[in-house]
Amino acid sequence: MTKLGWGMIGGGEGSQIGPAHRLGAGLDGLFEFRAGALDHRAEAGRDYGRRLGLTPDRAYGDWREMLEGERNRPDRVDLVTVATPNATHFEITKAFLEAGFHVLCEKPMTMTVEEGEEIVRTARAANRICAVNYGYSGYSLVRHMRAMVARGDLGKIRLVKAEFAHGHHADAADADNPRVRWRYDPAQAGVSAQFADCGIHALHMASFVIGQEVARLSADTVSCIESRTLEDDAMVNLRFDGGAVGRLWTSSVAIGRQHGLTLQVFGEKGGLSWAQEQPNQLYWMPLGGRREVIERGEAGLSPEADRTSRVTIGHAEGMPLAFANIYADLAEAIAARKAGREMDPAADLYPRAEDGLRSMAAVFAVAKSGKCDGAWTEARPPMFR
Ligand code: NAI
Repeated sequence: MTKLGWGMIGGGEGSQIGPAHRLGAGLDGLFEFRAGALDHRAEAGRDYGRRLGLTPDRAYGDWREMLEGERNRPDRVDLVTVATPNATHFEITKAFLEAGFHVLCEKPMTMTVEEGEEIVRTARAANRICAVNYGYSGYSLVRHMRAMVARGDLGKIRLVKAEFAHGHHADAADADNPRVRWRYDPAQAGVSAQFADCGIHALHMASFVIGQEVARLSADTVSCIESRTLEDDAMVNLRFDGGAVGRLWTSSVAIGRQHGLTLQVFGEKGGLSWAQEQPNQLYWMPLGGRREVIERGEAGLSPEADRTSRVTIGHAEGMPLAFANIYADLAEAIAARKAGREMDPAADLYPRAEDGLRSMAAVFAVAKSGKCDGAWTEARPPMFR
């Protein structure tokens, strides 16, 4: 296959998530990094782009310059990753979709439900892929959990318990730290802090694995650090459209927890448990049986797990490789479109704009429910009711 062209907006030098995208996109040699507008400071972005190997004419100073520069090139990039701060995602993603580029947008996809619906409509009208980076759904054993649920190993799903609880914003003395402050400022973060930042990863993973979407929710949101207007902890009860009950805890004040993303799924015939900090082991407990450890990379797993396992069993495999699996899915989707063929169904698992929109509806439902003493609240976006 000829290499696909890849471009990136945001993810500049020193950014948190930029390196994971570059590792993920570069891993399989399917994408070539050809263009970027990497920094909010034009010169710093150009300079860093050149140091990463971009030709000077494609190391752009800002995203509008990149859009104009790439639009009419015969070798224009095929996929654009948007890894800028949240409030800019909508404008940039919409502009690139309208210009005919496929886009991978960071989460949260937008700041409002209306913007989320607009992105879904724009991607559909332009017939372009708009993916959203719920990158943890790329882990091999997460895909195996999904396959086990889909083939009925667990029977009907009764309960799903998801957590994304860390302790990195637990110090009240951090109130003036610029990297922390904006996250709890409604003017910059919107209606939710912790749920919009981390809770939506846990919610997406729960939906992805059990194959059901959240329909209603009830949220208890609190600001443990009193000076914060937005929540730093939330406990959310969920009802999924396929009948499953969900319990989701997200926190940024859980001192001692690190990344803190875990998922447990309980069905009529057994239970599964997985933790992102030990991503290579999945625990399976069949009803009336003994606990079994499923190791990533071992024989006899699902095709979805085999496709996304990158190094030999027993070696550590982690987050940039999970992102690489999202990029590999997208490379397959784009290559299939270019060749006019069907895509490999095992690759058709990347998170979509529709998932980004569902997350935004859940974010607003959590904020609303939290203000009404946990009242049960519609969690689906108007477009999907
Ligand atoms: P950051 O603040 O560390 O880096 C942001 C980068 O974007 C900087 O290099 C900055 O110069 C650049 N930038 C800002 N405005 C820009 C503009 N208009 N044009 C071009 N570049 C611009 O932020 P971080 O933590 O890397 O987050 C970026 C996005 O990624 C956020 O939406 C965040 O929610 C998301 N994220 C997703 C994760 C995941 O697991 N999927 C994990 C961490 C962040």
